[in-house]
Amino acid sequence: MTILGIESSCDETAAAVVVDGHTMLSNAIASSVDLHTVYGGVVPEIAARSHIELIIPVVEEALSSAKKNWDDIDAIAVTRGPGLGGSLLIGVMTARTLAIIKNKPLYGINHVMAHPFASFITGTPLKNYSLPAQQPDYPVLSLIVSGGHTQLVIFKSATDYELLGQTTDDAVGEAFDKVAKIIGLPYPGGPNVSKAALSGDANAIRLPIANTAGEYDFSFSGLKTAVLRATQQLCGKDFTFPSYKLSAMLTEAQKANLAASFEHVAIEALIRKTKKAYETYKPKSVVVAGGVAANRLLREQLERTFPVPVVFPDIKLCTDNAVMIAALAYQMINAGTKPDDPYTLSTDTSLSM
Ligand code: KG4
Ligand code: ZN
Repeated sequence: MTILGIESSCDETAAAVVVDGHTMLSNAIASSVDLHTVYGGVVPEIAARSHIELIIPVVEEALSSAKKNWDDIDAIAVTRGPGLGGSLLIGVMTARTLAIIKNKPLYGINHVMAHPFASFITGTPLKNYSLPAQQPDYPVLSLIVSGGHTQLVIFKSATDYELLGQTTDDAVGEAFDKVAKIIGLPYPGGPNVSKAALSGDANAIRLPIANTAGEYDFSFSGLKTAVLRATQQLCGKDFTFPSYKLSAMLTEAQKANLAASFEHVAIEALIRKTKKAYETYKPKSVVVAGGVAANRLLREQLERTFPVPVVFPDIKLCTDNAVMIAALAYQMINAGTKPDDPYTLSTDTSLSM
């Protein structure tokens, strides 16, 4: 079964062709990230306009680089939520229109739930991908860590799963992005904080790990505020001093120490809850997904912590892509999920699992 996936929930316009949920024939992505950098974050209006311009060329690129035409496509899968309203609408309306005029079954997909399924890709003719030799064994414990989500999910199959816990405030990627802003590193913050942390001392600044009511929940907004207070203190200012003026007063060494101390505690918080879930649910594999899965420290620590295979998608499949959308759709279809109505499939900006 050959599935065309379409993704447009945030600032990436993506389309991909995946065969049987395991072979990636193409992974076309156009990002409007450069357009947002000057604003320090994604501007929804700019993202939506850019999706309108890019979506048809990206779908065509996904088909042509897969060397497929419409006759070869068995189904279309599209992200219907969660995400930015205008952005989701472009992807869903495009997919609905294509499903109607090309007469293909259409499947609306949950973006967050799809992230772990990037790790089910085991083969590709595309160059420069490092893929796992085999698909993860169920039950799969999945840590989904991105700019919008921080969730622990146990999958007994693609359609039989339980959300164990999630962030009660900021997502971990969002905390990376906000800390980057405080210490004056460019957007997107995650990779830049991680890079700055390499030359810093993780023990230089004491930062707290939040307690949460839910056993597997996370909380990162207190940690972000603690970084702000520590930065104000380093600059000899009190809590009333505006955060946007701080970064200019920091030395490179102070920035590195703040980045390293923050990264250390943020990753430790993720490891602790994942370990707790592992001990309770005894999964056969651990899959890490979402943009923060690109984080080097998280990778090292997870691999050290668990005796079962810890699977990370290739870095290029960690961030938003349409391959994961097509990969999850395949498993859902296999499990008996019926297609959606192309005349009525709606978007849902806060779609939950
Ligand atoms: O999954 P993703 O591409 O988009 C969302 O759906 O949110 O994740 C983007 C997030 C951003 O917050 C970015 O700062 C973070 O992933 N990120 C990282 C790293 N690379 C990207 N965070 C920490 N360390 C990294 N190396
Ligand atoms: Zn994502």
